[in-house]
Amino acid sequence: MYHSKRFLLVIFYTFFLCCQNEQISYYNGVKKIIDNKCASCHHLNGAGPFELVEYSQIKKRTSMILEVINSNYMPPWPADNEYRDFIGDKSLTYDEKKIINNWIKNGAKKGDEIEYEEYTKEIPINEIPDLVVKMDSFFLTKGNNEDQFMMMKFPFELTEKKYIKRIEFVPGNIKIVHHVNAHLINYEKNKNIFNGKSHVDTEILSDIDAFEALDLLNDDGTYPILTPSVSNYLPGSSAVKYPEGIGVFHASKKNVILVNDFHYAPTPYPEQDSSYFKIFFSDSPPKRRVKETQLGTFGISEIVPKLVIPPNEIKSFTTKARITKDISLLTINPHMHLLGKTFLAYAVTLQGDTIPLIKIDDWNFRWQYFYTFKKMLKIPAGSEIVVEASYDNTTNNKDNPFNPPQLITERINKNGKGSMKTSDEMLQFIINYLDYVEGDENIELGG
Ligand code: HEC
Repeated sequence: MYHSKRFLLVIFYTFFLCCQNEQISYYNGVKKIIDNKCASCHHLNGAGPFELVEYSQIKKRTSMILEVINSNYMPPWPADNEYRDFIGDKSLTYDEKKIINNWIKNGAKKGDEIEYEEYTKEIPINEIPDLVVKMDSFFLTKGNNEDQFMMMKFPFELTEKKYIKRIEFVPGNIKIVHHVNAHLINYEKNKNIFNGKSHVDTEILSDIDAFEALDLLNDDGTYPILTPSVSNYLPGSSAVKYPEGIGVFHASKKNVILVNDFHYAPTPYPEQDSSYFKIFFSDSPPKRRVKETQLGTFGISEIVPKLVIPPNEIKSFTTKARITKDISLLTINPHMHLLGKTFLAYAVTLQGDTIPLIKIDDWNFRWQYFYTFKKMLKIPAGSEIVVEASYDNTTNNKDNPFNPPQLITERINKNGKGSMKTSDEMLQFIINYLDYVEGDENIELGG
């Protein structure tokens, strides 16, 4: 009796699975997945190299699609989402992958056309800005098939002091703008913010030389204070909206948006870009101030052992910092350069509990997201944040900028600042957080 029941069950499932597969068509099952998980980049003028919006565009690329989804190359999302879930994750679920695989193996049928809403580009935040800050003229890439890393300044003046609730980066040439990390500087009234160059190549200049060339230093030669990470951009990501009153910051009469890391993808010939920022003011002052700190390079914690990566070695490092009061984590950003291989971060509480933060098993230099938690994440006072990272300085690492491999270090200069050249290395873990308030762990982020 028992056996026959099981037998029936097996027959039932075989039938179920077989016929379910047959029913999968582009219109019945696949389109929805591709619209949700691929089309935000693979649409006309999107960051992807071609459109994946219509059946014919997908049908002719099925073998390539199988390859990129099964190797997890696409959608680009380096973080392990079983370890920690973040906002904006476009990775395919196990079931979604199975559906696409079965569909392609069974001939990638179109199926009966179903009335569908036309795919429309997700416009990240569809509001009219209070102010637009543009480049003084367009930027022209070298066109030598190599990545370009620039430091750029976007100065703007106001007639009075204001509060800013959001600064949104808008890429000009979406095919070549790869990533942007921007800070805000408020200057005293006598500083001429339009002096100096508007951009410099950080592959060539050290940090201090770049600050000097852009005329960013204070009149007494000291570094200006930055409101960190006011705007971050990567293809397919949209500006995070924090809940009301959080993430609001000050603007004085003279301000500079400093992009310390403007990454252009390689282009075979020179291409123009005119990216800009949209600024949204806030009527009310910040209720709670977002703080930023970083572990590792330039940060509050030492890297152990020192970040020296001998040629032909795979080497691991750690860096740890103790949190002295309760905090609520909002957004985190792991950062390494081309030799990066793996990155793991977690917190260990005084009771010995582990709070997973992020795990990246296959580091990809091109996709350095600022990862925002779905809800604020409380880290109790006394916890230690631990980062474990490894680097691959062998020829097996296809991103290794040197062949044969060279000795690679952080190369901190005598001003205590380092080179940001991508051929040098960094180990950084940036955290954005608030001082903890009762109930924070129930507050959802994003929207
Ligand atoms: C966040 C933006 C983004 C998303 C989401 C995304 N792609 Fe891509 N895709 C890109 C970019 C950019 C490239 C160009 C290659 C690169 O930069 O690595 C690319 C390249 C590709 C390629 C060509 C790979 C090659 O070897 O030339 C395929 C195929 C592809 N994507 C399929 C997909 C599919 C299928 C999905 C959804 C399951 C998807 N992509 C989701 C941005 C994206």
